[in-house]
Amino acid sequence: MVKSALHIIKHPLIQHKLTQMRRRETPTAEFRQLLREIALLLGYEVTRDLELENVPVDTPLAHCEAPVLKGKKLVLVSILRAGEGLVQGMLDLIPSARIAHIGLYRDHETLQPVEYYFKAPEDIASRLVIVADPMLATGHSAAAALSKLKERGADNLRFVSLLAAPEGIAYLQKHHANVPLYTAAIDEKLDENGYIVPGLGDAGDRLFGTK
Ligand code: URA
Repeated sequence: MVKSALHIIKHPLIQHKLTQMRRRETPTAEFRQLLREIALLLGYEVTRDLELENVPVDTPLAHCEAPVLKGKKLVLVSILRAGEGLVQGMLDLIPSARIAHIGLYRDHETLQPVEYYFKAPEDIASRLVIVADPMLATGHSAAAALSKLKERGADNLRFVSLLAAPEGIAYLQKHHANVPLYTAAIDEKLDENGYIVPGLGDAGDRLFGTK
């Protein structure tokens, strides 16, 4: 079976910041700031192989050919609500990116995703699409988001998370084998409520201070 490529980004700054995020006592403002900083660093890795093309440039001294990103602006997809935290940091790095939003909530009994919102650029089929959700847990929401984007024509997709559970990785690799995965860490397991262990708790609640 062909499996999606899995990139584990072990940059020491990311690992250090992630540990601060895991701590129960880290306050909301710091958690938010750390996620933004890590997102920028993850964004750097996720985009490291983007194609370039040369364009003519006049510097104050001479004419030359210099590289710029090839093709249309990429799309960052925020899986609401925790995806917002990752997308904001990636936008610091790629400010002209287009943004799509997918609202999915997890039914607490079935653990299955239920869609309540979708808005994306119409020409998503011709753009690189980077889907962001800090927590890749069961993988069901991520897989549903990727399926929805594929239905709309997207076929150049990447998925980025902060933390992943082995179950979520296996699920995405099974259902979306052509989508490369990027994460900063793979934790031990999921608990009976679908939370990543040891993880960092509910990323949305910690990001928005709702608990
Ligand atoms: N979503 C979260 O916010 N945390 C988890 O551990 C799993 C899913």
